Amino acid sequence: MSRIPHHDRERYGLVARVLHWLIVALVAAQFVLGWTMPDVHRDTQPVDLIAWHLATGAALIAAMAVRVAWRLTHRPPPTALPPLMDTVSRATHFLLYAALIAVPVLGWANASSRGWAIKLFGALQLPALAPTGSTIGHAMGDVHSALAWVLLALIGMHIGAALFHRFVRKDKVLQRITW
Ligand code: HEM
Ligand code: HEM
Repeated sequence: MSRIPHHDRERYGLVARVLHWLIVALVAAQFVLGWTMPDVHRDTQPVDLIAWHLATGAALIAAMAVRVAWRLTHRPPPTALPPLMDTVSRATHFLLYAALIAVPVLGWANASSRGWAIKLFGALQLPALAPTGSTIGHAMGDVHSALAWVLLALIGMHIGAALFHRFVRKDKVLQRITW
């Protein structure tokens, strides 16, 4: 381990680590809810599991807004990875962020096009992203569902990489995001 420079052992800041794991929990809940809730049709009401998908979604949107703002103002600790690995890692993180923004925003636009209000913690109503009945907002529901699979594939790669670092390379990358 002495080969690994000291800065490879540094962790992300506490706020970044808390946000990472909070968002992991919210995203996991969104997959479970999205898969188990009833299919959404023209006259479906946003109740029960669908209401939970929207409420958890609102919390996720808020958490991602904070995370993106935090990330843009706080650089991650430097890595000591080989250049190719560093590039692949950065690219995957960028795509994860892109999907973590696109999937919720498309779901939000779809909900708006159905006239469903999105409320943060049941109180603060988020603005409608698409007019009620809009065709484009409706189509975004399909893109939302399709991109959720892309997000899942990225998460699969990301977790695979974390385990590779932990158990194959035996470096300290996983510890950067934990306690
Ligand atoms: C990363 C976060 C999210 C994931 C992984 C996710 C996942 C899913 C999945 C798997 C479905 C079901 C697709 C199907 O089987 O047809 C779905 C549907 C839906 N989600 Fe999400 N969702 C997320 C965030 C959100 C947010 C933030 C909102 C709104 C605030 C939202 C609103 C909806 C709506 C309205 C549908 C029904 C779409 C339709 O069938 O036309 N989702 N979501
Ligand atoms: C919903 C699932 C997950 C999502 C969406 C996700 C997303 C992300 C994102 C976007 C980053 C980049 C952070 C930044 O540079 O600002 C990151 C970092 C990280 N994640 Fe995850 N993550 C998930 C689950 C996990 C799991 C289950 C593990 C561990 C097994 C993990 C381990 C890590 C590690 C070690 C880093 C830091 C990598 C580095 O050193 O730069 N993640 N994650």
